[in-house]
Amino acid sequence: MEIPFVDRQNEVAELCEALASAKSGKGKMYFVTGEIGVGKTRIIEEFCKIAKQEGCLVIFGRCIDSGAVPFLPLNEVLERYMGEIEEQHIPLGLAVSREFQYEQLRNTERERTRMLERYMRKFEEMSVQQPVVFALDDVQWADAGTLSFLHYLSRNISTISMLCVVTYPTEYMKTEGATPFATTIRNINIERNARTIEISRFGVEHVVQILRVMLGTDRVPEKLVKNIYQRTGGNPFYVIEVVREILEQDVFDLEKHELKVPVEEIQMPDTIKNIVSMRVSRLDENTKKVLRACAILGREFEYAPLKALAELDEDTLLDILDNLIAMGFIEEVEGAEERYRFVHNPVYEVIYSELSIPRKRLMHGKAGRELERLHGNEERYHAEIGTHYIRGRELEKGIKYKIRAGEYALSRYIMEDAISNLQDAVAVLGELKDESMKVEYAYRIYAMLGDCNYILSNYDEAIMAYEKALDFSVDETQKTRIKIKMSMPHTKKGNFTESVNLLLDALGHIKEDEFALKADILILLGWTYELKGAFLRAIEYYKQAVEICENTDDEAAIATAHHRLGTGFWCLGDINKAMKHLEKARSIREKRNIKEGLADTYNNLAILYSDTGNIEKAIEYFRKAEKLYAEIGELSGLCAIYNNIADIYALKGQYETAIAFYTKDIELSRRIGYKTSEILATNNLASIYQEMENLEPALTHYASALKLSREIGEKRMLTMALANIAIIYAELGEIKKALEFANEALETAKEVGSKEDEGDACSAMGRVLLLSGNFNEAEMYYEKALDFYLETQRVERINTCKFDIGRLYLAWGKFDEAREFLEIAREFFEKMGSSGMLKKVERELSKLPK
Ligand SMILES: Nc1ncnc2c1ncn2[C@@H]1O[C@H](COP(=O)(O)OP(=O)(O)O)[C@@H](O)[C@H]1O
Ligand SMILES: [Mg+2]
Repeated sequence: MEIPFVDRQNEVAELCEALASAKSGKGKMYFVTGEIGVGKTRIIEEFCKIAKQEGCLVIFGRCIDSGAVPFLPLNEVLERYMGEIEEQHIPLGLAVSREFQYEQLRNTERERTRMLERYMRKFEEMSVQQPVVFALDDVQWADAGTLSFLHYLSRNISTISMLCVVTYPTEYMKTEGATPFATTIRNINIERNARTIEISRFGVEHVVQILRVMLGTDRVPEKLVKNIYQRTGGNPFYVIEVVREILEQDVFDLEKHELKVPVEEIQMPDTIKNIVSMRVSRLDENTKKVLRACAILGREFEYAPLKALAELDEDTLLDILDNLIAMGFIEEVEGAEERYRFVHNPVYEVIYSELSIPRKRLMHGKAGRELERLHGNEERYHAEIGTHYIRGRELEKGIKYKIRAGEYALSRYIMEDAISNLQDAVAVLGELKDESMKVEYAYRIYAMLGDCNYILSNYDEAIMAYEKALDFSVDETQKTRIKIKMSMPHTKKGNFTESVNLLLDALGHIKEDEFALKADILILLGWTYELKGAFLRAIEYYKQAVEICENTDDEAAIATAHHRLGTGFWCLGDINKAMKHLEKARSIREKRNIKEGLADTYNNLAILYSDTGNIEKAIEYFRKAEKLYAEIGELSGLCAIYNNIADIYALKGQYETAIAFYTKDIELSRRIGYKTSEILATNNLASIYQEMENLEPALTHYASALKLSREIGEKRMLTMALANIAIIYAELGEIKKALEFANEALETAKEVGSKEDEGDACSAMGRVLLLSGNFNEAEMYYEKALDFYLETQRVERINTCKFDIGRLYLAWGKFDEAREFLEIAREFFEKMGSSGMLKKVERELSKLPK
């Protein structure tokens, strides 16, 4: 029975207004929420009809919960509307060994962003041709991939002609804690990128309208209206089910338009659940059987497995399906062949929950086998097949498919889905009978869980998972692999010693001829030392890596090794050697057209040129890198470029331009959710204001960088924020606060173990002490700072520190010493063309007595 659309003028009007805005290029995202059955789906369906009439392209996606399949329904939806999204390149290591290699582990954040950006571009392209309405129903069941895209879209939608309407039942936000769904919705709301329309229940007058249509009369007895309104509270789904029940019980006289019995006497279950059970219980046996088979297969299902599960001849089955459709239990899925779904989730849930446990087990097992036969070779079915086998207690197969589903999700960079599939497997792992199989699966699952968590920056979880994987390793090769992987979260956490120990251990256990692996380990060792600020050691390892790679004919690896070595020399301040190795990497990468690597190399070369004062060349290379990053959709690379360009302008004292680029960087980082980059840019922006002696905004930006750093547990940039906040407070005369921050900076730096950070923290402390008139102690800290900087050989830091020391002596009245240090600093900054610092040095020099 078609029930006409009742009420909801306000809600629809609001959506139409948003649509008008979207048409003019200002897209919006809306959440339509409310309790189950209140009419969310109906509203967006009606709205989509209007949008279609107005010439919009309407994309309607429904989320189902048949196991997590990355980027469904997005993929299906997009496939249907514009042909398949081009297949992204599967990382090499994955294609070869189905295991994430170390290089991929480092690049996944980029890959993930790239994937999201690819979808975004498709949407942008579409919306240029025609305004787009993208409706996503029941997003609480969306896979994590779709959710991360939704988050991404919310940040970008305001500049395209698209209206995105998303529904979910309010109760899912309340009951489910930190699920990817709830987190996504919360984050989008925190960023204020979506509005929410809360749908409320019907009033009495709307209930009357429904009754009139369903009972076919304008004269619905008032008593009946009241009774139904009271019972249902005006929930449309409930109202309709109750009226159906009245019709099926035949207690309403359709001719006389009145009840055949007093309203109090109508037998009526008091919950939706009971109503559904009652309706189902009246069906004949075969129909019930089919309905149960449907419920086993899920909210949405295909005809073929249903046929196998129902065990009826085809004619009978088709008749029953038609009948179920007519009764409003199920419906055909639009645009998909031979697919059906339950019209209402409560119906599905009641039917499923009423199946006995042994029956569920039996039928799920059968469903698993059937789906395996039909779709065993299609990766996107693996999660679902795994779920059926696990519920059917065929654990070995269930675990196998869950692992495959995890691999598939990982290959598409949807870590949350990978994790949830792997956890399904973990949950039943202990029940496997075969010991050796249990060990083998456990190793694979935990190794992958480590990878996923590492990529998600959940370093503690990653380490825990890798430790488990280590427990289940059976040979040296496995152990070595895990140790290498485990070093990476340790490095990220700043546990450099732990990381180095793991890598050295791994190095001691590989075979002589495993060149590629050896080079990987050496590069990771170098990387760890580089992050630690121990550049000499880093270079030693990079050199060894180069040597090993050059004995092979793997040019990509040779280029990587040279790139790292060059970067190491740059950290050390050895510009010539840095140039030599980066040039080598450049020529190989250009020749082989390794775009991503090439962009990195251009970027580093540009920094080199900028360091040596060749600003024009620097900008030229930055532009080259920018172009490449844009070409391959590598937005995190673009962030780095903006940051670096800003650095150049900052150095030249062109603060306005620098601020513009840092701001661009911050915006882009936010857009793609690249936190570390956002922190860096925010810190840098703050430091510009600090240099301009504009302390208020400087403090604000440092504070927000600090907050972000703490949120993600990023310690390296934490020191920078803490140290500078300390300095600013000291300059504002708030010495007590300043000391607190300086002390925390010292502690944090020590924890991280980076020489450079320790130097920064010490020099911040020096500055605080100087400003509080504590010259002796200030001198001590500055000397410590200088020692740290000398160890890292960072020339700029060394000379800034000398300037600070000069300033200290000036305040102290030790003019000769002051002059000596300030002169050194002046010479350096003059040579560097760093006009901002130069001005500062000269100002201090002019204060000296003639
Ligand atoms: N405004 C309305 N007018 C008429 N029928 C409605 C209206 N809102 C909801 N319904 C009907 O109520 C039932 C439940 O609505 P639905 O949109 O599926 O709820 P939800 O998506 O919120 O769970 C459906 O049969 C739907 O057609
Ligand atoms: Mg709905």
